[in-house]
Amino acid sequence: THAVAYRAAILHSLDDPAKVGLEASYAYYPDGVLVVADGRVRDIGAAADVLARQPAELNVVEFNNKLITSGFIDTHVHFPQSEMIASYGEQLLDWLNNYTFPEERKFADPAHSARVAEFFLDQLLRNGTTTAMVFGTVHKASVDAFFQASDKRNMRMIAGKVMMDRHAPDFLLDTPESGYADSKELIERWHNKGRQLYAVTPRFAPTSSPEQLAEAGRLLAEYDGLYMQTHLSENKQEIAWVKSLFPEQKSYLDVYDHFGLLGDRSVFAHAIHLEEPEFDRMGGSNSVAAFCPTSNLFLGSGLFNLPRFEDYEVDVGLGTDVGAGTSFSMLQTISEAYKILQLQQHRLHPLKALYLATLGGARALRLDDKIGNLQVGKEADFIVLDLQATPLIKARIDNTSTLFEQLFVLMMLGDDRAIAETYIYGQRQYRRD
Ligand code: GUN
Ligand code: FE
Repeated sequence: THAVAYRAAILHSLDDPAKVGLEASYAYYPDGVLVVADGRVRDIGAAADVLARQPAELNVVEFNNKLITSGFIDTHVHFPQSEMIASYGEQLLDWLNNYTFPEERKFADPAHSARVAEFFLDQLLRNGTTTAMVFGTVHKASVDAFFQASDKRNMRMIAGKVMMDRHAPDFLLDTPESGYADSKELIERWHNKGRQLYAVTPRFAPTSSPEQLAEAGRLLAEYDGLYMQTHLSENKQEIAWVKSLFPEQKSYLDVYDHFGLLGDRSVFAHAIHLEEPEFDRMGGSNSVAAFCPTSNLFLGSGLFNLPRFEDYEVDVGLGTDVGAGTSFSMLQTISEAYKILQLQQHRLHPLKALYLATLGGARALRLDDKIGNLQVGKEADFIVLDLQATPLIKARIDNTSTLFEQLFVLMMLGDDRAIAETYIYGQRQYRRD
């Protein structure tokens, strides 16, 4: 057991500022040391304290003008849409038909799936994202390729094969039976293999028949610890369509509820236009919402109302939603989240943003016993942020006095250039050159 220590400023989230207040929500060591051994955090604290209690021969890596924090967690993203990011001109339903479905067709080819999976994971690492909840395509091979690539890098990932059996081109459709059987095969192969976890993934209510949604519910009931991911109330036209397709159901969320898809490990992307009973039911069922700011702005979908989710005690994670989202960077995602809340006369404090991008994401994914901060015993997924990443960031940070200001500047101005290094399970997997 070979321990390595990393010495830099260290900041990590300890709890939700909305629950415990700002002061109790974080730990900050201006001159800190993080000790990692066997892929886990062995010690953390002020350098003087940690170095005094660790063996004298400890190998110490020192950083200047850097800030170590926990890896970012992206709770909603589509790996097959990596190379169609920034597709011009449409809102959700036309964007799906004109751009997304033709792009996803390419994933029938396992070689294409494997290449894009590697590209996607490279993008996550260079942006400091160490865990994500990921959509594949309808093709089983896309998810095999994804898990193969993430397992090889030992990244903690949640992913699933899209289930869709109607209202899309024939070449992208499965059936209730094949969607069930293919998902089951992937679950058996990948769920809990190393750090991999499986999510049952009906795309959204319009592209699944009631029979298929019932099969998705059956899968969830058959296995322990499975996740469910889908889209909810993203776009007004989409919502009207769902109402016409499922006239018996009281609301969009009620469609999923009817088929047993709500619960503790169910993550609903967007949830922008919810009505009061839907907020209530999200909270009551322990379901989770993924807030995807760059996507919501890019597709003109609407403004996510974060404080309302807090009122109903609904856990929220942040998502990039690439390729409707316009960046893999969780820093850029935070920047747009801040502006979305500004437009609604709400504030997003940098410590709350840090929480959402790390520990809050881990809680949303029910992984906070394993990841989300750098407490002793957690899996050592961490990043090294560069406080001098660009001339502008350096100038602006030189002109600040407090940690909060520095953090806020990184969040507003930072992107992949601000990520100096990314570590997975204690091993460096990315270094900016
Ligand atoms: N709703 C159904 N499918 C999708 C998708 O791929 N992206 C987004 N943003 N919304 C969706
Ligand atoms: Fe999405």
